[in-house]
Order: sequence, then C-alpha cells, then structure tokens
Amino acid sequence: MALLTGHPSLEKAVLDNLNTAVLLFDADLHLIYINPAGEMLFEVSSRHIVGQRACHLVPCPGQDVEERLRSALRTSHPFTERELNIGLSDGRVIRVNCTVLPLHHYDARDEVLVELHQVDQQLRITREEQLLNQHQATQALLRGLAHEIKNPLGGLRGAAQLLEAELPDPGLREYTRIIIDEADRLQNLMNRMLGPNRLPQPSNLNIHYVLEHVRGLLQAECPNGPSIRRDYDPSLPEIRADQDRLIQAMLNICRNAVAAAGPSGALILRTRALRQFTIGNKRHRLVLRIEVEDNGPGVPPELRDRIFFPMVSGHAGGTGLGLPIAQELINQHGGLIECDSRPGQTLFCIYLPLELVHD
Ligand SMILES: Nc1ncnc2c1ncn2[C@@H]1O[C@H](COP(=O)(O)OP(=O)(O)OP(=O)(O)O)[C@@H](O)[C@H]1O
Ligand SMILES: [Mg+2]
Repeated sequence: MALLTGHPSLEKAVLDNLNTAVLLFDADLHLIYINPAGEMLFEVSSRHIVGQRACHLVPCPGQDVEERLRSALRTSHPFTERELNIGLSDGRVIRVNCTVLPLHHYDARDEVLVELHQVDQQLRITREEQLLNQHQATQALLRGLAHEIKNPLGGLRGAAQLLEAELPDPGLREYTRIIIDEADRLQNLMNRMLGPNRLPQPSNLNIHYVLEHVRGLLQAECPNGPSIRRDYDPSLPEIRADQDRLIQAMLNICRNAVAAAGPSGALILRTRALRQFTIGNKRHRLVLRIEVEDNGPGVPPELRDRIFFPMVSGHAGGTGLGLPIAQELINQHGGLIECDSRPGQTLFCIYLPLELVHD
C-alpha cells in the first residue's frame, strides 16, 4: 500500500479504528488491503479475501462495478453512490453508501480506495436510541404512578384490617377480605412495576449458568412444554452482572416464548460474541448476544411496535409487564433487547456489553 502521510503506524492506527469499511484495490482491481471495520462488514478475515477481484467482493446487481472503478481511475474523478445494495457471499444483502477515490502516485502504480458506510446499521442505531429514550420516559412515568398508588393503598388495606377486627357479624368479613386481597394484588403489581428495591449486586458470572438455570425453571413450570435446544458458544468470557436480575429478564422473555410455541413447539437458546458492536450510541469492543428463538405464531402485527411498552399484552390475563421489566433490567446492565418476529420464527436478541473481568 502506498503511504499517504509517511507515518505508517499512524495510518494503520487510523484505518484500524475507523468505523467505516475501507478497501484498497490495485490498478487491476484486486484487493490489496481491507481494514478491521471492512472485515466486520463482510464477516471475513482479510487473509481470505486479499487478492480477490472487486466484482466478486462488492457485487451490485445491475451495475458493472469494475467498469465504474476503472472509469474513476481513468478520469481521476471520485464519486459517491448512495444506498447501494451489496449481495454478500453468505446470502446477506447490506445497504451502503459507497465513496470511490482514485489514488495516483508518482512513484507507484495507481490504486483505488473504496469506503463503504453501512446505512441499515445507522438506521438500527437511530431506532435503538429512540427505543431507549421512549423506555426511559415510560419508566419514569410508571415509577411515579406506582409510588402514588402504593401509599394510599397501604392506608386502605390497614383500614380494612381494623374494620375487620371490629365487625360484629363474622359474615361481613367476606367483604373486608375482598378489600384486603385486592389491595394485596394491586400491591404486588405496583412492586413489579417499581422493580427490585435493592441495589444491584454485580458478580462475575457465566452466562450459560444463567441460561441453564432459566431452562430448568421453565421445564419445571411446564414439563410438557416445547423442546428447548441449546446452541452456546463455549468460548464466551464471564460477564459482570446482577445474577438475579439477569435471570428475571431471561425468564420474562422465555416464558413468552414457551407460551407462544406451545407444547409441540420448539425454542432455541443461542449465545454469541460480537466484536466492535454499538448499543444505543456506545461502541463496545466485545458484546454478548443472547438469542431466544421460538417457532410460534409470532407477535401479533398490531402489537409489534409496542410490546416493550407497559400494559401492552396480547393475552386476556396478561399484565403486559414482562417485556418492559426485562428491558429495564437489561438496560441497567448497559444492554438492549430487540425483537424480530414473523409467523413461525420469533427472535428476541439480548445485547450485553462484555467487560474484561478484573477482580
Ligand atoms: N415470543 C413471542 N411470540 C409471540 N408473541 C409474543 C412473544 N413475546 C411476547 N409476545 C407478545 O407481547 C406481549 C407482551 O409481552 P409481555 O411479556 O410484556 O406481557 P404478557 O406476557 O402479556 O404479560 P406478563 O406481564 O404476564 O408477562 C404478549 O402478550 C404477546 O402478545
Ligand atoms: Mg410475558
């Protein structure tokens, strides 16, 4: 690669840390360099693709890529194409903004620099930020409301208890019992809305221990429930998290999946590590992705945009709190939950930043 600044280590550091994928082709349009962001975009290591031709690497349906690059070299005109769809070798199609810059060197052969900026990922980040903002707003509203309800509720229950003790006719106690029981039911609901009332207790834990624990609970709750297959990445490092909160979040998501899949259905619990991944607007070196997949009928279309809001439920008896609580618990760990659902395949992805564990 011909140098731009004369400081090879500086150039390498800049290219290695760019968020944008950068590819450098020689004058014959064979790849001579790809930076780490590019390896991530194509999900391949540079060793496997250096030397490949541009038309194989960035095939754009309906376009002669090599002819466009050659003409940029001939005319010395850089150009930018917006929202190009690139079909990758693994079948994925990604949408990118592409900038092509011909490089002419007086002491070496010409080269052409291609920058690819993934736009569908940008959309994802914007959507995530919106999701987090919405979530914080509803969470604040809920907490305020739950506090306001809890205080008078305690008074109401106490008064009913006093009344019960004073009632001359035991037959009338049936009514005070109803008041007390209903007050207790509401109290439980408010406690669920307020979330755990202790400080988080982070420890270093193995995510597979958490998932196996959840799997055991689900099987105990529903012995004739759907099959649960595991697809774990055993090389994952430990995560620093509050174990009870993680278990609660996973249970809430998995219980929904068990209910949706039904006794003859199937669940898959999957774990993977992702490098250089952005959650909200924070970029992390390493992120854990936990997937809960089921083959049930999918989230009803009219609920799809709202399932993380409180009190949104597709079941007659559902409180609609499971997912917002799970989202809150995962947020507390700097993570995020996303859902992608169609009939026959519903995927909940839980992203958690993996910190290096120093204890
Ligand atoms: N895996 C899934 N498949 C299909 N629909 C789902 C799935 N997960 C969630 N949903 C839909 O999202 C709704 C909201 O889920 P959420 O867990 O927040 O509340 P809930 O299950 O109705 O009540 P609860 O508070 O008891 O959990 C569900 O009622 C259901 O309609
Ligand atoms: Mg639920």
